[in-house]
Amino acid sequence: MTTASTLDFDVETLRKDFPILSEKVHGKPLVYLDNGNTSQKPRQVIETIDRYYRAMNSNVHRGNHFLSQQATAALEAARRTVQTFINAAEDREIIFVRGTTEAINLVAFSFGELDIREGDEIVISAMEHHSNIVPWQMLCARKKAVLQVVPVNDDGELEMDEYENLLTDRTKLVAITHISNTLGTINPVKRIIDLAHERGAVVLVDGAQSVPHLAVDVRALDADFYVFSGHKVFAPTGIGVLYGKAKLLEAMPPYHGGGAMISSVTFEKTTYNEIPFKFEAGTPHVEGIIGLGAALEYVNSIGLDAIGEHEHDLLGYATEALETLGGVRIIGTAREKASVISFMLSGASGAIHPHDVGTILDNEGVAIRTGHHCTQPLMKRFGVPATCRASLAFYNTREEIDTMIRALGKVQKMFA
Ligand code: ALA
Repeated sequence: MTTASTLDFDVETLRKDFPILSEKVHGKPLVYLDNGNTSQKPRQVIETIDRYYRAMNSNVHRGNHFLSQQATAALEAARRTVQTFINAAEDREIIFVRGTTEAINLVAFSFGELDIREGDEIVISAMEHHSNIVPWQMLCARKKAVLQVVPVNDDGELEMDEYENLLTDRTKLVAITHISNTLGTINPVKRIIDLAHERGAVVLVDGAQSVPHLAVDVRALDADFYVFSGHKVFAPTGIGVLYGKAKLLEAMPPYHGGGAMISSVTFEKTTYNEIPFKFEAGTPHVEGIIGLGAALEYVNSIGLDAIGEHEHDLLGYATEALETLGGVRIIGTAREKASVISFMLSGASGAIHPHDVGTILDNEGVAIRTGHHCTQPLMKRFGVPATCRASLAFYNTREEIDTMIRALGKVQKMFA
């Protein structure tokens, strides 16, 4: 039974900004609880993109006509919005890429070329998304470097003692997620960064799951690289951000060659452009970048503190409701958790496969993600092939969680 949240957060008004939230799925009101996968888009972002194509569409950094100047100005304004959003020191430290995956691959290739040699060590954790595992494996194979993995405990927290033990003079780079997409664990990234820096290693933080939920200050963290995707923070797909300290980015070789990333080209010798352009070969995703700027301004207008408080309330409510339902094993019970709940469901006749749960919930209009969530090593760690995962955003409500719980009750009855 729903009891109203005591928080002063006008979720109903905010929901009206998201046209898709009024849609029906299989004749039922959509309950969208797959925000860790991708977020929905507010009209402020949709209208910004619409305006761009109606009045401004043009290539950027390549024309001196009116539209090109307008589009370039809008793109560079979005870069400054990103800079402010994560408190980077300079806008040239913001590189636009396709998403978190491309950002990590860029660093793995380019920093790898600059500074990884045979026998060097790269530290990741057992809770990383495949996109923060595979690029490092590829780098290690290329350079004959060694991948080290920080284990997680039964609650889904990093084993920090093990982390400290893994850091040696051979450690060159630590790549760690800020928030686990599967467990919801919020990692102590400031401590992780400080310890790595004591050993002279640089740190990349995967912020794909954190940027929509908590305020990120790359300078307070002293992160060397911080990466995230636009589409998880209410912006379009196909746009993401690599933040890097200017000194590192300046020293690193380019990742892609082509237009815009050069200063001059002859057949004998090419010189490269300055950052950020050195890493932005080709025509950028202009609508995506401008849409990202609009999305971050939208988040700012609500405030990440208010968002965090509302989501924390929802997380507590959903966790309690799942425990009350019974037959639920929650995977990921860290003390510091964001609004992600992975779980296994059982009925009277035993465990129910997450894919069955997901299909039946979908028929009730409830969208969750089921599967390994691109974290197969983590599934192995917890001894499960897949989980059900509800990942919440600020536009979710307690009523929607009640709907999910009722639907899970139906599943249990079907498997009684
Ligand atoms: N899209 C991935 C997820 O659902 C990252 O967690």
